[in-house]
Amino acid sequence: MSEPTRKVFIKTHGCQMNVYDSGRMADALRPAGYEQTGEIDDADLVLINTCHIREKASDKVYSEIGRLRVLKDQHRAAGRDMTIAIAGCVAQAEGKEILRRAPSVDVVVGPQGYHRLPDLLERAKRQGRAIDVEFSEDDKFDHLPATDPRTHLKRGPSAFLTIQEGCDKFCSFCVVPYTRGMEVSRPMPQILAEARAMVEAGVCEITLLGQNVNAYHGANGSGGEASLGDLLFALARIDGVKRLRYTTSHPNDMHDTLYAAHRDLTQLTPLLHLPVQSGSDAMLKAMNRKHTVADYHAVVDRMNMIRDDMAFSSDFIVAHPGETDADFAATLALVERVGYASCYSFKYSARPGTPAAERTDLVAPEVANERLQILQNLLNDQETAFLKGLVGKTIDVLFERKGRDAGQIVGRSPYVQPVQVNAPAEMIGQIGQVMITSTGTHSLFGHLATTPATVVSHTLMEAGA
Ligand code: 5AD
Ligand code: SF4
Repeated sequence: MSEPTRKVFIKTHGCQMNVYDSGRMADALRPAGYEQTGEIDDADLVLINTCHIREKASDKVYSEIGRLRVLKDQHRAAGRDMTIAIAGCVAQAEGKEILRRAPSVDVVVGPQGYHRLPDLLERAKRQGRAIDVEFSEDDKFDHLPATDPRTHLKRGPSAFLTIQEGCDKFCSFCVVPYTRGMEVSRPMPQILAEARAMVEAGVCEITLLGQNVNAYHGANGSGGEASLGDLLFALARIDGVKRLRYTTSHPNDMHDTLYAAHRDLTQLTPLLHLPVQSGSDAMLKAMNRKHTVADYHAVVDRMNMIRDDMAFSSDFIVAHPGETDADFAATLALVERVGYASCYSFKYSARPGTPAAERTDLVAPEVANERLQILQNLLNDQETAFLKGLVGKTIDVLFERKGRDAGQIVGRSPYVQPVQVNAPAEMIGQIGQVMITSTGTHSLFGHLATTPATVVSHTLMEAGA
């Protein structure tokens, strides 16, 4: 007799890699008899995929566990079991502490142990609780089951695909090298096989993920190594891959083949997410970024030479220990010079175990707040200007889902913003040409264009003039 179906409710916090990981955990749990549910009340297993990048994100975990404990007690009173599993970067960084502080948690699993999740659940059933936060030699991607089409179909025509995980760069403020471990690249044939499976499941846009995605250097299947540029060229040859994106890049890992991919591949969207964190050389040094402001501008300038429709996004941290008014002014100058399409900006948050957390020359909270406000105002103005610059232009939109209003569908521009259009639902899953007519705060509105005026996304210029 086959096992009765159990239900797993997965809640994902944090980055896109966590979204991808949650899908892979659902894949890993399926052979153990678990189906995903969107209703937490129905769940036999509640799995929280956590984020440790800033204090606010990781603090959420304990309050969330508190709420789950109440639900677990209610279920127990009604004669039902509910297992609680904590995954992700908080599990990795604070696993033992979680077990100590939260007796209701049954399983703790770090990002390198997801393929062992069914075993951990079994172990917890036998022994009461189980934890796995080892960085073993074992590559989880060799053991996770093949990506299940059902996971991708649920997400529509766009999917994430992790190609590289971890980071060896040790920026002063960042927990990633401690939670995700050292940089590991998946072999190219494994990635191509996963991309083909995604396409067969109806996916046509793939976003390649890695904490240092452009440092990718996976085995190419014929004895050598492939770069991210090589991988993009190979993925673009797969029939049905209509759009490619990748995130997140480091300025020091840009390479010739990657520039060539931007020049030659029509599938590759003209947006580069290139975090710089600060526009001051002194701060970049303090942050151990190992590049200068000039190095960063050189990347941006070269990209702009290659494509006239190139846009940039970035991450910024204000008020890293030691940041002066002059350092902050330099960040504003960098932003003015680059001109971003959209950005994320954060107030520095001390993370236990990182070198910056040892420093005592902290920036006063009111100064930090003020700097963040000033930076965000400038970035918002740039985003508004970027969106307004698209009005009157025709851009490619990949339609992903129905809109809120009848007759409306929503897709994404090459620059990731949602675009709302009145068009038939049959266009979901296709790329249409849309004439942009107006803008929202972070979104665009338009109508289907039969005769494109200016095609923005595929205009190429000669490289390296
Ligand atoms: N404090 C604030 N922001 C941080 N980030 C990473 N670590 C910290 C921290 N300790 C930001 C960086 C990074 C993004 C993912 O999160 O800008 O690029
Ligand atoms: Fe963290 Fe990115 Fe620096 Fe790596 S390169 S330590 S992931 S901020």
